[in-house]
Amino acid sequence: MSIFRDGLFAGKTAFFTGGTSGIGLAIAERLAALGARTTLFSRKQEKVDAAVQGIAARGGEARGFAGDVRNYADLEAALKQTREAWGEIDFLFCIAAGNFPAPATGMSANGFKAVIDIDLLGTFNACRAAHEHLRKPGASVISISANQAQVACPYQSHVCAGKAGVEMLSKTLALEWGPQGIRVNCITPGPIDETEGMSRLAPSDAARASMIRAVPLRRMGSKDDIANVAVFLCSDAAAYVTGSIYNCDGGTGLIGARLLEGSAPPS
Ligand code: NAP
Ligand code: COA
Repeated sequence: MSIFRDGLFAGKTAFFTGGTSGIGLAIAERLAALGARTTLFSRKQEKVDAAVQGIAARGGEARGFAGDVRNYADLEAALKQTREAWGEIDFLFCIAAGNFPAPATGMSANGFKAVIDIDLLGTFNACRAAHEHLRKPGASVISISANQAQVACPYQSHVCAGKAGVEMLSKTLALEWGPQGIRVNCITPGPIDETEGMSRLAPSDAARASMIRAVPLRRMGSKDDIANVAVFLCSDAAAYVTGSIYNCDGGTGLIGARLLEGSAPPS
């Protein structure tokens, strides 16, 4: 269900890192349904192809690139080709991320680095590489964070550190790019149903029930809940919104650090 009018984003171009599954794909599908041309960028060619075909089958316009956000040249190439095909980029979504539950002593330095490099360095790379292609004034950058940026969470040291960095990076770029008319914001989801992230963090019925008990609104969010905030932030209704962190989490971010039943990895 969309409260937004048909054709809202006609003529606009959106670039997504991590737009090929889960929350990213849901946002890309919604923007495409509202008329935006969408570029989807992620590592696995088969996921890229399936996502592009899915959007095209619904009458949307999409193109895809297989690449890794840890590789700056991959992003440069995909952004350049998007610009050549469709002109300046109106919306940049930084969504690519990695997660696995593990205590700090249960992950190697390389395991910690893998998540920091995808989440934080990958977001920097996408923003840095996209800047020359963003429409000025008028572009909007949206990064997807997580409650772990604001609330410490056991077995999530890599994600807590990486996403906290994403939120502060976003605020810093809002300051640097505001004078050019580029808005930079974050959406911070809580637990979102039917996603890879939740299948990793709440892999059992007990973990899922525990997760829901910790949400003040007493339900998991949906991918649509996040897409609704994304559409708002892209729209003219958010023309004066920059440097903001939009928690879309059922109030989960108000709750302190917790250990979820059934979500602990084997020791
Ligand atoms: P997901 O379906 O696994 O989405 C991750 C996306 O990133 C996929 O498209 C994946 O595609 C891509 N990706 C991963 N590593 C990449 C890399 N190195 N380079 C380029 N692309 C890469 O997971 P999700 O649960 O929907 O999560 C989406 C976002 O929401 C993430 O930023 C996550 O931190 C955030 N979030 C999720 C939840 C939740 O409840 N699920 C809660 C809070 C925040 P490939 O495998 O093809 O690379
Ligand atoms: N516990 C501890 N360490 C783990 C782990 C786990 N469950 N899973 C991976 N690692 C470690 C690996 O052992 C490796 O460290 P090592 O070289 O010292 O052995 C390091 O993490 C990198 O693993 P690798 O598989 O080479 O990384 P990758 O770049 O191919 O994948 C991940 C990145 C690990 C984040 C992978 O889970 C991924 O691709 N995730 C994307 C999807 C996702 O997480 N979606 C949810 C988003 S919220």
